[in-house]
Amino acid sequence: MTRLQVNGQAKDIDVPEDMPLLWVLRDELGMTGTKFGCGMALCGACTVHVDGAPVRACVTPVSVVAGRAVATIEAMAQDRVGAVVQRAWVENNVAQCGYCQAGQIMSAVNLLKTTPQPSDSEIDEAMSGNICRCGTYARIRAAIQQAAGRLARGGV
Ligand code: FES
Ligand code: FES
Repeated sequence: MTRLQVNGQAKDIDVPEDMPLLWVLRDELGMTGTKFGCGMALCGACTVHVDGAPVRACVTPVSVVAGRAVATIEAMAQDRVGAVVQRAWVENNVAQCGYCQAGQIMSAVNLLKTTPQPSDSEIDEAMSGNICRCGTYARIRAAIQQAAGRLARGGV
């Protein structure tokens, strides 16, 4: 039995300890906001936060995150930065097919928590591990800049 802390809630699960966190989230806990893309830490679709830092859930064994704080896209509406980012995403019509966007938002939230006023090049660098087949990169950058401005003004 492994005890996880997911979005502030304790979850006890009985799975092999090498099962990737992504499958635990999606198949055991029914939290399907986090997406499977490549399965090889290359695309960023499966990005979640562990103790506040982004990780690729597809290559993270569940045993590694036991007792640590896992946050997923499902919790971002309750996160101050996450809520501002999601609003900016909507206002900039960022999503096209949408498949990559949960991972994109998780990386963007981490960027704004660690670099509150990022330059365009810092945005491109921080988001470089998140691939979007639809090519929404320009709108992602605009949304992050809008969210950064709003957070700096104390807005939500
Ligand atoms: S599915 Fe994890 S990085 Fe692509
Ligand atoms: S919006 Fe389609 S893959 Fe990014």
